[in-house]
Amino acid sequence: MKKLKLLLAEDDKTMQALFKEGIAIGSHKDSFLLTIVDNGKKAVEAYQEIKPDIVVLDVIMPVLNGYKALSEIRSLEERGKKDSAVIIMLTSLENKSYIFEASELGADGYIKKPYKHKVVGEAIYKCYKKIKIDAKKVDEKKANKEEQKRSSLYQWLDKYSVNVLKMDEQHKKLVNLINYFYTAKKERKEQAVLKASLNYLLSYTKTHFSHEEKLLEENSYPDLIPHKAIHKDLIDSLLDMKERFEGGDKDVADELSLLLLEWLFDHIAKNDKKYGKYLNSKNIT
Ligand SMILES: [Fe+2]
Ligand SMILES: [Fe+2]
Repeated sequence: MKKLKLLLAEDDKTMQALFKEGIAIGSHKDSFLLTIVDNGKKAVEAYQEIKPDIVVLDVIMPVLNGYKALSEIRSLEERGKKDSAVIIMLTSLENKSYIFEASELGADGYIKKPYKHKVVGEAIYKCYKKIKIDAKKVDEKKANKEEQKRSSLYQWLDKYSVNVLKMDEQHKKLVNLINYFYTAKKERKEQAVLKASLNYLLSYTKTHFSHEEKLLEENSYPDLIPHKAIHKDLIDSLLDMKERFEGGDKDVADELSLLLLEWLFDHIAKNDKKYGKYLNSKNIT
């Protein structure tokens, strides 16, 4: 297993020795690669030099105290945007406001002094695991869920049927075109391919809307005017996105396919199904 780079800033020599001994004991005795410095300023310098995975900061130290070192390290991380270290404070201060202040400044945990040095390695590893490993698992789970949510959006299900054959066929075709565009974007197809697929998708959306509106008009659908207005709104937003896409805004492609899918399914489920019932009552299927 790769060792975790651990930086300790502690000015008391006896405490340094105890810490060193502590992390070399127990189930995590081989987990750390330790560097020790004796003030906050050196901690900030060592942080930049060795890029530790974990920093343990004593609160009361000469030159630069633990809080100041903590906030300097966190602001360096923000500027450099590198992976943040897990920072643990060592404090004998009982007052909860000190602990709160440290967490506001970006500390991930604290160990209260005096501590049992034999278990310090375990306490540090636990804190690291909680912050880094568990957080990573949560992120992975979230990403998987989002992916699932996305891919399930692309599937045509019978429940989307409006029970009017021609309209169902057009809706299915629209979903296929959206899928095609989204996949082309995902596979980083050339801009010209994306552009052509987007243009086709937009023109087919317009075609579908005009067929649908014509059918509703022919059958004196009472909610035709609001239905047409919803169609127009979508076309307007799509044209706006198309312009952004052609102007080089690449993020718009994801936004666009998701908007289309969400909108389409939402519109079919709410508005189109409503006309479906109306047309069915007139024996049109
Ligand atoms: Fe519609
Ligand atoms: Fe429709």
